Amino acid sequence: MSDLFTIRDARQDDMGLIDLYALAEGMDHIPGPDRVRVAVNEDDEVIAFCRLQDDMNGIAYVNPIVTYAPWRGYGVGRALIEDAHAIAGELRLIARGTSAGFYRKLGFVDMPWSMTDQAAASEDCDGCPYRAECGPSPMRLLG
Ligand SMILES: CC(C)(COP(=O)(O)OP(=O)(O)OC[C@H]1O[C@@H](n2cnc3c(N)ncnc32)[C@H](O)[C@@H]1OP(=O)(O)O)[C@@H](O)C(=O)NCCC(=O)NCCS
Repeated sequence: MSDLFTIRDARQDDMGLIDLYALAEGMDHIPGPDRVRVAVNEDDEVIAFCRLQDDMNGIAYVNPIVTYAPWRGYGVGRALIEDAHAIAGELRLIARGTSAGFYRKLGFVDMPWSMTDQAAASEDCDGCPYRAECGPSPMRLLG
C-alpha cells in the first residue's frame, strides 16, 4: 500500500464524511460504520470508503465504494477492493457504467443479472430514473 494512506475499520465519528462522499455521488445514506472500511490520510481523515453487504447466500456485495474526488487515481480504490477481497473472498457488485473499467482492471468479470440478489444491491437499480444513462452492470471477483 502507499505511504499516503492506511486502511482501517470505520468508526461512528467517520460517518459525517462518509455520508458526504456518498451524497456527492448521488448514493443513499450509509446507515452506520458496520462493515465499512475506510482509507485515511496521515491526519486520520477519511479519503475513501468501501461498504460490504451480504446477500442471502452470504456473498459479499460492494455497496458502495467511493474515493473522495481529489484522491482519485492514487490507488486508494484498488487498495480498498484488495482489502475487501482479503476479508470477504468473492465480491459482487452492480457497477455504474462509468466505473466498470475500474473493476475490470482489478479482475472483476461480468455476471448475469439473474445471479444478483435484490436485497443486496440490484433493488437500487429497479425503478431508478437514471438507469439508462448509468448503464449498470453486475460484476464479480472470484474468491
Ligand atoms: C471508481 C472509484 C472508486 C475509483 O477509485 P480510485 O481511488 O480513483 O481508483 P484507483 O486509483 O485505485 O484506480 C485503480 C486503477 O483503475 C483505474 N481506474 C480508476 N477509475 C477508472 C474508471 N472509471 N475507468 C477505468 N479505469 C479506472 C486507474 O487508472 C487505476 O489503473 P492503474 O492501476 O493501471 O493505474 C472512484 O473513481 C470513485 O469514487 N468514483 C465515484 C463513485 C463510484 O462511481 N463508485 C463506484 C460505484 S459502482
